Amino acid sequence: MSREPDPFDGIKLPVAQVPGVWLNAPLFAMDQNMAEYHVVAATSELPEDGQMHVELNGEEILLCRHQGEFYAVAYYCSHEMYALEGGMLSNGCITCPYHGAEFKLSNGAVKAPPAWEDIRTYAVKVHDGTIAISVGED
Ligand code: FES
Repeated sequence: MSREPDPFDGIKLPVAQVPGVWLNAPLFAMDQNMAEYHVVAATSELPEDGQMHVELNGEEILLCRHQGEFYAVAYYCSHEMYALEGGMLSNGCITCPYHGAEFKLSNGAVKAPPAWEDIRTYAVKVHDGTIAISVGED
């Protein structure tokens, strides 16, 4: 009896830099622009309004679940580079816990001072109970 060929046989896969069971997560998918997506967590790990610090290909990312959607934004605020983790999620935005700057989760746009520069956002795909992020151009 022969087995199905494994499409990943002999291919070195990228590794998500996330502690825990996802350390050896395989390449998740490639979109039409050939952006690489990396599995970083299971959807069950992130409750509504939950946040998770992710390191992927040298990028520090804050993964958030808000109003049923998953968002990946820069981990650090553009005002004074403090962590956005722990900031309140409300109306599609995250509020920096330090000085109150507010950023839109979907595109990183500044919605309230004292920050004046947008923060980076990353493409997110949810598939089969997993969350994958691309650090390519967004
Ligand atoms: S560090 Fe975020 S508002 Fe100042």
